[in-house]
Amino acid sequence: MAEILLGVTGGVAAYKSLDVLRILQRQGHGVSVVMTHTAERFVGSASFAALSGREVGTHLFGDSDQPGYHHLDVNDGKDLMLVAPASANTISQMASGGATSLLTSCYLAFRGPVVVAPAMNTSMWLHPATARNIETLRRDGAHIIEPESGLLADGAVGPGRLAEPAAIVAAVETALGAPGGVRDMEGLSVLISAGGTREPIDAVRYVGNRSSGRMGWALAAAARDRGAEVTMVQANVDLPREAGIRYVDAPTAAAMRDACRAEFPACDVLIMCAAVADYRPVAAADGKLDKSRADAITVEMERTTDVLAELSAMRGGQVLVGFAAEHGPEGLDRARAKRVRKAVDIVVHNDAAVPGAAFEGPENVITIIGPGDDEASLPRMTKRECAEHILDAARSLVGAGPVGTS
Ligand code: CTP
Repeated sequence: MAEILLGVTGGVAAYKSLDVLRILQRQGHGVSVVMTHTAERFVGSASFAALSGREVGTHLFGDSDQPGYHHLDVNDGKDLMLVAPASANTISQMASGGATSLLTSCYLAFRGPVVVAPAMNTSMWLHPATARNIETLRRDGAHIIEPESGLLADGAVGPGRLAEPAAIVAAVETALGAPGGVRDMEGLSVLISAGGTREPIDAVRYVGNRSSGRMGWALAAAARDRGAEVTMVQANVDLPREAGIRYVDAPTAAAMRDACRAEFPACDVLIMCAAVADYRPVAAADGKLDKSRADAITVEMERTTDVLAELSAMRGGQVLVGFAAEHGPEGLDRARAKRVRKAVDIVVHNDAAVPGAAFEGPENVITIIGPGDDEASLPRMTKRECAEHILDAARSLVGAGPVGTS
């Protein structure tokens, strides 16, 4: 079992670190704690000392009249450093290499995997300065556990709330399993489409679908965390944007086609996750249709271009992944046929009839069809976990040349 250095910074969420500590211990890990001075104003060091059964480091040697610690002594024998909660200020110091506190000195001198769980109010989290700092930490190899959205201490609702202790511990276990982090997509450019297109009927109405964009968002975060440059072509997704991902807006099938065609030549992997409309109104009415004009109306629809099939026909060495949200038992066969018809390497099938899978939920139940004759039906899991499996399959094909459906 591992030795973990838990860094606690100032914030209302500091008390949750006691839970993190307890769960880590239950998993059999040893935990030593360092705290910033601000953190001590939220939770006393005595609580961490009592739970960990170890002295808690709060002062850097020489930074006050108190005895203080030498950061190299603190780091000695530690397998992983976890900072939870990580305040905006500490994140900024870590990103710029500051070493004014015991915690940041430990970070600067630490040579193992680092996991950072930010917590702060929404405005601070969304500020470009914080986004830059988080991106810097990521590039420096830290694993970032995205904060959750919810009601924050200041009464606001939005992203910034510390991730749940169980999720933090799960990220620690993952990072321990892969020392230094799995950065197996470094140098690769990944193009992902997500969301659902809306095809205008008139100035205010549209034909749309229920895609939330969550699966695409999970894929983008996973690819970024594995070191890829990620471009996200998004259609009407109402989820917070993440640091380290480039976004291109494409609200309609036509805009999706244009954006994907423009981005495709420079990518190594395309993951076409968006629900692109197959039909659109031939012409959107000017202004707002007035119901006093008729009891019934007919909207004439025309086919849109199949973006994935079109890109497949113009591909160089790119790896292509498509999605197939099918309904019912014959869906898997239809998904297999789609892979051949569109000449893509991998098709991810999900059954839209299974409750809680596909669309809005946090989980999914998928079958990964391809590459080649491979087919993996996965149990229900989070969309992030699905994303990791899909990226594993795509990654295995990079550099193998155009494989199509062979
Ligand atoms: N797709 C696309 N362009 C479209 C329609 C779909 O690029 N105009 C992509 C989707 O992003 C997905 C894959 O094709 O990766 C399969 O989409 P789906 O709607 O399931 O398949 P269709 O080809 O539209 O087949 P059908 O509607 O007949 O099931």
